[in-house]
Amino acid sequence: MNPPDWLPETAFPSNKPIRLAAIGDLHLRTSIPQDLADDLRAIDGLADLLVITGDLTEGGKLPEVELARELFSGIRMPKVAVLGNHDRRSMRRKAMRIALEASGITLLDGASLTMTFDDGRRLGIAGVGGYGGGFWPEEVPDLVSARLSKAVGVRARRESLRLQQALDELVGQHNDANVVVLHYSPTVSTLGNEPLIKYWMLGNSLLGKVIDEHRVDLVLHGHAHLGNHVGQTPGGVPVRNVAAHVTGRPMIYDVTTHRDVQEVDRPWSPVAVTSMPERLR
Ligand SMILES: [Fe+2]
Ligand SMILES: [Fe+2]
Repeated sequence: MNPPDWLPETAFPSNKPIRLAAIGDLHLRTSIPQDLADDLRAIDGLADLLVITGDLTEGGKLPEVELARELFSGIRMPKVAVLGNHDRRSMRRKAMRIALEASGITLLDGASLTMTFDDGRRLGIAGVGGYGGGFWPEEVPDLVSARLSKAVGVRARRESLRLQQALDELVGQHNDANVVVLHYSPTVSTLGNEPLIKYWMLGNSLLGKVIDEHRVDLVLHGHAHLGNHVGQTPGGVPVRNVAAHVTGRPMIYDVTTHRDVQEVDRPWSPVAVTSMPERLR
């Protein structure tokens, strides 16, 4: 599907891609897996931004949060994250937020920001956890509508509205690329081997609809442990499920032109990250 006519041309003034590293669903519990720590350390500084798509912890308990703080404190790349449903089990939400932010993570919860690089590139990021609710009426109408409780629907609508507000903030920012960070999926195309009966717990089509109504170049999400890596919204926006269970390691992507997303197997040269908003340093 071609982008709508009203989309502006992307400029990429330095011909340098926006390079993103991404991982989700770490589910830290009692220790930091060595291979995860090694992988993150190996790619540190090689991307413009590290995106963490939620479920950093198994249950949001403070010892688990402390592991996340320890893990990410050692990573000097700018870092943004959304919280997952497992993180939201925390009884100490404020303490969790403070600890994660102390590790240099900017938490996005219905918010957006623009990163500006001094070579002129601009990256917009909109983040929200999202919610379940299902993929109706387009994909699986009967199953989902029967399952969909009123409470789930209310929360699904609220989260999609918060995404809409975050994306609206990016309109007119003249960014070279806009990226959406979610925990839940905006599409069934990355749900892979997840059982159909669980779809309503894995995301919802309202998120995809909001994304398709905005200029978005890439969506990163997690949560669907049995899902697949590569998908797209109904409107053709590239979607990548970066749950660690799916990818097995942090992924790296180059966004070169509008919606042109290339997976980088392993980067060959460091990216000079030069100018960030103060809170991302
Ligand atoms: Fe998860
Ligand atoms: Fe999750």
